[in-house]
Amino acid sequence: MKKEDINKALFNAAEKVRKNAHVPYSNFKVGAAILADDGNIYAGCNVENAAYPEGVCAEAGAISQMVAAGQKQIKRIYITGSGFDPVMPCGGCRQKIREFASLGVIIISHGVDGEPLEKTLDELLPFSFGPESLGVKK
Ligand code: THU
Repeated sequence: MKKEDINKALFNAAEKVRKNAHVPYSNFKVGAAILADDGNIYAGCNVENAAYPEGVCAEAGAISQMVAAGQKQIKRIYITGSGFDPVMPCGGCRQKIREFASLGVIIISHGVDGEPLEKTLDELLPFSFGPESLGVKK
């Protein structure tokens, strides 16, 4: 599949689940879609909680879906949200992505009224700590 087609499929998957985000506190819906090693797409949305720190980001939901399906390698990840500005993954999610992606993996951040921004994991999480730091091969 062409890169543009993959991006479109990931965008569509993220937008589909973003509608279901549970965001009574921030009112800020986020969708995330992962292209995994098996060629399938795994998606997640943010799920907030009245006990605020218990809320879960969209990226974490997508990673859970991927791992539950038996996949451990992220090939590309696409994040969508409202507004013009790219919706960047939070620091915690950058680290969660690091667990399952190589440093060259592209993360696309897209506020759907604006343009998508493509960055590598290494650009968003430089000098990072990961599985190799503990002698674990990815
Ligand atoms: N959020 C995500 O789901 N992913 C991100 O990368 C940025 C922030 C969510 C968390 C919270 O539910 C809402 O956006 C506002 O911070």
